Parts: sequence; structure tokens; C-alpha cells
Amino acid sequence: MIRDVETVRATGLAGLVRDSLAKHLGVRPDDVVIPDNAEKYAEPVAGTSGGAALRKIFELMWGLNRAGLADESLGSTRYARRSLRDALRAVLDRTVSAMGGDAFEYLELGPEPAKTTHIIDHLVRHGADVRGYTAVDINPYSRPAVVEHVREVLPDRPVRFRQELFADVTAARCHRPGVRNVVTMLGFEEGNDHPAANAAMLDRILAPGDLLLSEMQLLPRTSWLPIFEFYSSAPMREFSETVLARHYGPAESEYGIYLLPVALGGGHRETMVAVTAESVRGPARPGSGPIVVTNYCLKYGYDAYVRQREEYGSMAVLAQESTADGSIVFQLSLKK
Ligand SMILES: C[S@@+](CC[C@H](N)C(=O)[O-])C[C@H]1O[C@@H](n2cnc3c(N)ncnc32)[C@H](O)[C@@H]1O
Repeated sequence: MIRDVETVRATGLAGLVRDSLAKHLGVRPDDVVIPDNAEKYAEPVAGTSGGAALRKIFELMWGLNRAGLADESLGSTRYARRSLRDALRAVLDRTVSAMGGDAFEYLELGPEPAKTTHIIDHLVRHGADVRGYTAVDINPYSRPAVVEHVREVLPDRPVRFRQELFADVTAARCHRPGVRNVVTMLGFEEGNDHPAANAAMLDRILAPGDLLLSEMQLLPRTSWLPIFEFYSSAPMREFSETVLARHYGPAESEYGIYLLPVALGGGHRETMVAVTAESVRGPARPGSGPIVVTNYCLKYGYDAYVRQREEYGSMAVLAQESTADGSIVFQLSLKK
């Protein structure tokens, strides 16, 4: 279990991603620009046009989840059927049985209304005793939609939204006496952070007996195509353009998707990272401007994702349910 803050500081994922992309493209690391991940979603400085971009980022994410849940074939293959919704349902059934009828508080790191209401509705209909809901998100544009939609599925319970960094949430501040938390971290969120940093953050938030429900896109054993298909989708391209405009300003650019090895250091295994980047057209000639990384997300294999949770976080994985193509997984784990 890694708790040492210095270790976490020394393992910033952005720098490692920048070095890997620079090496792959044969450019200097200084030519690669990576906006800080939390900054990507944070409230803009007064007077800038960043608010519209943040709203757009939230809406793109919401749209992606609505489409994903509505698509009954997403995740199935020519040979086997098991969609994202099927995998999610299976892990939610495991969540209900793991709670054994105990009441719990639902704490969501990075909320989005479509998936969240789908999950809470399923949990409640299958007998879960959800006492209240708290969302934590740095993006203020999530608040109205999240609160309004969650209230519809939890009408008699407190629904709260905390606009703050995950790093500022502590177990003491987010637990009610004698009530366990079910914490969610969905939408490939933890892929944006070094596993050591992520484990240290979860260690501050989770108390023994809490459950963590997380979702990641994985490297399927037989084809990496689902990763390229996801990042070449229209919403992800638009997300990339929005991040570029917000952090660099208006620019002509070319979109790129890269799947690269990244050495995580400090005894961690080498893993793969999916990177989207905009190659900005410089004034002199195409490609002479910087390469602006608009998203990066670690991609583990199925077993590596289990090991990653158990080795770095005093956690036990109770279930891991994947789509038929092995590209999306929901993991349920218990804080020991
Ligand atoms: C990748 S999105 C995932 C959203 C959603 N859970 C889903 O399934 O699509 C990440 C969300 O977490 C928020 N977020 C990212 N980093 C954060 C941080 N360090 N502190 C607080 N919120 C953060 C973003 O604003 C965004 O809403």
C-alpha cells in the first residue's frame, strides 16, 4: 500500500505520458503540452470564455453515457452477447448482495446523470437501502442536472453536490456514523491518474467496509479496436477540440489517437496509455506547432486491473464484470 505523498508527487502521470508521446513522435518533450487533468474541468478564471467549454465537456460526457446505455450491442461481439448495460447490471446485483441489506450512503466521484440514475434506480428496485447521495465534482456545470435527475430516483433522501477536488475529500468528512459508503468512480476516471496517486486518494476517502464501484476501459485480449473506435467517435473528437480551444485558444490542428507503453516507475508494471492529441498547425508549416494532449487514460489488461486495485490499496476485489468484447469492465471492491 503506497501512502507516501512524496512517492505520489514523484509519479505524476502527465510527465510520463509526455515523455512517451514525444519519444513515439520523435519530438522534444517540450513540444508536447499537457494541461493538468483537474484543470481540464475546473472553474475558469473570471472573464475568460472557459465556462462554455466546461458546460460542453459535461454535456458531451452526459451524451456519451446516454448513448452507451441505450446501445444494446455496445460491448457485444459476433460470437457473444454481453453489453455495457448487462455488465453493469451484473455488478450492481453483486453490490446489493455485498451490502447484505445494510443501509448505505452513495458517494459519487465525478457524477453524470444518465449512468447515475440508471444505477440508483436499479439498486433501489433490487432492495438496496440508499440513505442519501453526495456528488463530488470540480466542474460546477454538473450540479443542476445531477441534483435534478438524482432527486427523481431518490425523492425522499438528501441529495448533495460538493464542488471540490477529490483530493480534498476525506473519510471523516464524507461518512455518517455507523453507515458505510458505496463510492463510485465511473467513466474510466482513474485512468487519468497514476495508480499510486489514485490509491492514496482512495485511501483518504474510503473507510473499512466501504465498497468501491469503478469502471475502466481495458485492453481486450483479442482486439484493441474498441479503444480506437471510442476515441475516434464524434463526441470524443469534439471533447478534444473543446479542450484545445480552452487551453490553447483557437487553432487549426489535426487530431491523433495513440496507444503507447508508459513506464510507471517505482516498482509498478509498465502499462499502456491511450492518448488523444491535437497537432497544432504552426505559422510556418503544418505540424510545426506544439502537440497538445487533450486526454490520456491508462489501459490495463483484465487481470492487471484486479492486481492494480489489490496491490496498491488494501482493497479486495469482490467482482469484475466485463462486456463480451472485454473492452469495458465494472469492478466492485471492498476496503479492508
Ligand atoms: C471522465 S469524467 C467521468 C464522468 C462520469 N463518472 C462518467 O461515468 O462518465 C470525470 C469527471 O470527474 C470530474 N473530475 C475529474 N478530476 C477531478 C478532480 N481531481 N476532482 C474533482 N472532480 C474531478 C470531472 O469534472 C468529470 O465530471
